[in-house]
Amino acid sequence: MGEGVLTAGFWRHDGALLCEDVPLAAIAAAVGTPTYVYSAGAIRAAYQRLADALAGLPVRIHYAVKANSTLAILRILQESGAGADIVSAGELHRARLAGFRGEDIVFAGVGKTRWEMEHALDAGVLFFNVESEGELALLAEVARERGTVARVSLRVNPGVDDAAAGHAYITTGEAGSKFGIDVHRALDAARAAMSHDALELVGLDMHIGSQIGELSAFATAQRRLRQLLDEVRAAGCGTIRWIDVGGGFPVAYASGEPEADLAAFAALLRETFGDAGVQLIVEPGRFLVAEAGVLLTQVLYRKTSGRKAFVVTDAAMNDLLRPSLYEAHHAIEPVVATGAPKVTADVVGPVCETGDFLAMDRPVADVPPGTLLAIRDTGAYGSVMSSNYNSRARAAEVLVQGGQWGVAVARETLDDLVRRERLAPEWRDA
Ligand code: LLP
Repeated sequence: MGEGVLTAGFWRHDGALLCEDVPLAAIAAAVGTPTYVYSAGAIRAAYQRLADALAGLPVRIHYAVKANSTLAILRILQESGAGADIVSAGELHRARLAGFRGEDIVFAGVGKTRWEMEHALDAGVLFFNVESEGELALLAEVARERGTVARVSLRVNPGVDDAAAGHAYITTGEAGSKFGIDVHRALDAARAAMSHDALELVGLDMHIGSQIGELSAFATAQRRLRQLLDEVRAAGCGTIRWIDVGGGFPVAYASGEPEADLAAFAALLRETFGDAGVQLIVEPGRFLVAEAGVLLTQVLYRKTSGRKAFVVTDAAMNDLLRPSLYEAHHAIEPVVATGAPKVTADVVGPVCETGDFLAMDRPVADVPPGTLLAIRDTGAYGSVMSSNYNSRARAAEVLVQGGQWGVAVARETLDDLVRRERLAPEWRDA
């Protein structure tokens, strides 16, 4: 096994795929499929790799909860020393349950509601990453009503077009995206923030997208943010103490894809902000958890249609949406190595959509029904994007630590599916 395999927490022994010291086949036998399995050790190792690379810089790592918000995963990162980056009251609720204190949490998101602002102010979040002038005004109003001052960081859209390394749906830092305040308007927005008594402008923030494989994109964006910092200070703002440079470190889902160059990233941060007299924040999601998870699924059927071969599995787009939504690649391997030759097939789920696939035209082991498969690198944006489409109960989630494993999220039951529903609504007069 290579080093990458080790740090990711999954390896083979006598042909059997293990998560740390637990055979995946044993977990599937006990809890069934589809099931997400996460390696606690791999998450800790990824956190440590990043912390080590950034050592010596005044920087805090705030985990982007959206990547995987399972409480047990949040707890691991909280215990490792991470803060949290949240985008909803729901994520705030989860972060608090997992032990993050208000001051460990930054609140981002392009459409915060009044209700969410109230919750976050009451929780005492470190600051709000504000994404528009309208949001600034509403936040000032809500803070004033509550007799408090909201700490604000402006999320700036640096207008970096070369960030488009990943799928168009996951780039955010180019002009014309819905995210952030246009860098050319940011100074005016900063002045507006400074003019509100109920706001304290404490930071500047950006996040240029996910899967940023080109360091030059980070470099351009960070330099623009540094320039803005100097301009805002020159305009009389003496309260900025946080610079949040976002997440977006890439994960290689297939060999040959770019991996995060953490040393170069750290050098860039030092070069750009070393003399700025600020605390830095990074907010990675994917990098910390993607490789620490697999989705276990069983082959239900084999079939052919026209010239195409299909592997029908019990996991579907409702369990793992990334292939359908982004044509994302996830390696798929039999849990127990087989001598079977490879066949080019579509790996598809039971959902009634042609777009329900886990892999398209992929050389996969030519295995019979009953075979257990592992869909790799699904720790980030896997379970969090799952749904009940086709009234499918959501998968179980299992955490592994050394030779032990435990259920972190129970498989949904049929009753769970209808728990919020009534056969007939309680009618009200209009
Ligand atoms: N900060 C902000 C403000 C974000 O919007 C995001 C991700 C992150 C941090 C974390 O980015 P990361 O380090 O994970 O790249 N569902 C997509 C990814 C969407 C990312 C959205 N924002 C996927 O499955 O690829």
